[in-house]
Amino acid sequence: MAVQISPSILSADFSRLAEEAKAVEGADWLHVDVMDNHFVPNLTLGVPVVESLARATDTPLDCHLMIENPDHWAPRYVEAGAGSVTFHAEAAAAPVRLAREIRAKGARASMALKPATPVEPYEDLLSELDMLLIMTVEPGFGGQAFLDIMLPKIRRTRELISKHGLELWLQVDGGVSASTIERCAEAGADVFVAGSAVYNADDPAAAVRMLRDQAAA
Ligand code: DX5
Ligand code: ZN
Repeated sequence: MAVQISPSILSADFSRLAEEAKAVEGADWLHVDVMDNHFVPNLTLGVPVVESLARATDTPLDCHLMIENPDHWAPRYVEAGAGSVTFHAEAAAAPVRLAREIRAKGARASMALKPATPVEPYEDLLSELDMLLIMTVEPGFGGQAFLDIMLPKIRRTRELISKHGLELWLQVDGGVSASTIERCAEAGADVFVAGSAVYNADDPAAAVRMLRDQAAA
């Protein structure tokens, strides 16, 4: 499995987003957390900011939608320039139709699971997705502590992916840092979101390289 790192701009300086995006060029993706203050108790940014970011960086955008009604909004983020769009299983009315629409519009389709949402009910849907995101904190805020209790779920998901022979990427998001990334990789994750571990570092690009080396070790 090739390791991919997706720095989250949630921990960046929002008044300098273009520069902050450029500071992590060399990362595989730029993770963009969209929050609507309904699905999660926090509010960040929307379609116009994603359109501007897509013009400001060559790094493909990995949009993580923590919003209600993703069935309506997710395709708008593909049109805005996202290379990958993640909707939450808990919020989607018709996840299969939505994943197909995202793919048909030309982006990678991804579905996220909150910590208390099991993967097993979605086993038959995995073939419709390009990536599954397992949240390793409750979504809504950066800088939270990694939930070790999610490691068995990562492991079970990797087993399901292998059992069905899928190409699905397995992303983890929340509390991923130098001290937790190896455990995530060992459990079977291959795409790693890191917000505070990258943007609170003195050299964000070096932090990306360090995380990549640790995950690949
Ligand atoms: C949390 C967001 C994360 C957040 C991660 O709801 O989905 O992407 O930015 O931040 P860290 O890496 O600081 O936990
Ligand atoms: Zn996220």
